[in-house]
Amino acid sequence: MSSSELKNDRILRAFQRQPVDRTPVWMMRQAGRYLAEYREVRAQAGSFMGLCRSPELAARVTLQPLERYELDAAILFSDILTIPDAMGLGLNFVAGEGPVFEHRVKTAADIDRLPQPSAEKELRYVMDAVAACRKELAGQVPLIGFTGSPWTLATYMIEGGSSKTFAASKSLLFNEPEAAHRLMAKLADTVADYLNGQVEAGAQALMIFDTWGGALDPVRYREFSLAYMRRIVEQLPREREGRRIPVTLFTKGGGQWLEDIADTGCDGVGLDWTTSLTDARRRIGDRVALQGNLDPCMLHANPEVIRREVARCLEEFGHGPGHVFNLGHGIQPETPPENVDAMIRALHELSPAYHDAAATSATS
Ligand code: CP3
Repeated sequence: MSSSELKNDRILRAFQRQPVDRTPVWMMRQAGRYLAEYREVRAQAGSFMGLCRSPELAARVTLQPLERYELDAAILFSDILTIPDAMGLGLNFVAGEGPVFEHRVKTAADIDRLPQPSAEKELRYVMDAVAACRKELAGQVPLIGFTGSPWTLATYMIEGGSSKTFAASKSLLFNEPEAAHRLMAKLADTVADYLNGQVEAGAQALMIFDTWGGALDPVRYREFSLAYMRRIVEQLPREREGRRIPVTLFTKGGGQWLEDIADTGCDGVGLDWTTSLTDARRRIGDRVALQGNLDPCMLHANPEVIRREVARCLEEFGHGPGHVFNLGHGIQPETPPENVDAMIRALHELSPAYHDAAATSATS
C-alpha cells in the first residue's frame, strides 16, 4: 500500500510543521505491560524475545493500543537491544531485573571483534515484523520504526544490562576514547543499515532513543552521542512512497542541548518533562517539530488533574502546527489504562482550538 492511501496522516504532517485539525498523539512504549491483552500475548509467546521474533505476535501487540485508543501512530513492537543481541552478546530478560547480556564488551579487542549484523540477515526478523505491522495496519495510521542511539546501546553492552552510574561505559570514554569511537562508529553504521531496512520494510517515520545521553557531561555528549546520531541521520532515506520519512531524536535529559540536536538534520526533537515546550519552541521550533512531554507519572493522577495538565502542555506549545503530543518517557507498567483514555479525550477536546479550523490534514 502506498502512503497516499493513509487514512490518517496527522502525525506526518505535524512532523513537517504543516497544518493539522488537532494535535496528533502517540505514546512511547504504548504497547506493553500496562495492558492486560499485552500480558496475555506475552505469556503465550513464552519470552520477550520470542514475542519480538514472531512477526505475527509482534504485529498483534503493535495494534493493541490502537484498538483501545484513538492514537495517530503505531510504533513497531520490538526493542532497542535487538542490535547488541545480534552482535552475539546473548540477550535475556530476567524477571525483576530487566535486560541481561550473557557476554559483555570489556576491552578494545572485544570491540574490534564485534560483528556488524545486517538488516537483511541477522535482523531479518525485525524487518519481517515491520512488514507484518504495516499489513495489519492497512493504512489506518503511520508506522514508526525505531532504534537506540549508539551511546545508549553501548551502555547496555558494556555494563551487561541496566546501570545507575554507567561507571564502566563512561570509563571507556575517558580512558580509551579511540576504542570508544570505534565502537560508536560500528554501532552507528549498523543502526543506519537497520533503520534503512525498516523503511524498506514499510516504516513511515523513525525515532532514535538516546535514553542515556543525558547522563553524559556536555563534552562527552557531543563527542560520543550526538556526533554518532548525526552520522546516522546523514545515512537515512529522507523520502519513500512520495513522502518524507521524518526522524525524531530523543535525548532524555537533553534539554540543554536542543539547538545541537536540531542541527543534526532531524525533523523532530523529543522532549522529556524537565524542558518546557514554550522554551523549546522559542529555541528550535522554527526548525523542527517538538514531541512530548507529559510526565508519565501524571497518568497516576486523577482524570481532572490529567485534563488540566494536557491543557497546560497545549498552552505551553501554543497555537499552530509542529507539536506531536507524547509522554516525556515511556508509559509505566502500573499505569491504569483508563487514565490514558482521560488524557486522549482531553487532547481531542482541547487541541482543535490551537489549530486553524480550515486545516484539511488528516482524512479520518
Ligand atoms: O514503544 C513501544 O510500544 C514499542 C516497544 C518498545 C519496547 N522497548 C518494548 C519493551 C520500545 C520502543 C522499547 C525501547 C527501549 N528498550 C528503550 C528506549 C526507550 C526507553 O524506555 O528509554 C530502552 C532503554 C530499552 C531497553 C529495555 N527493554 C529495558 C531496560 C527493558 C526492561 C525494563 C522494562 O521497561 O521492562 C526492556 C524490556 C521491554 N521492552 C518491555 C517492553 C514492552 C517489557 C518486557 C516484557 O514485557 O517482558
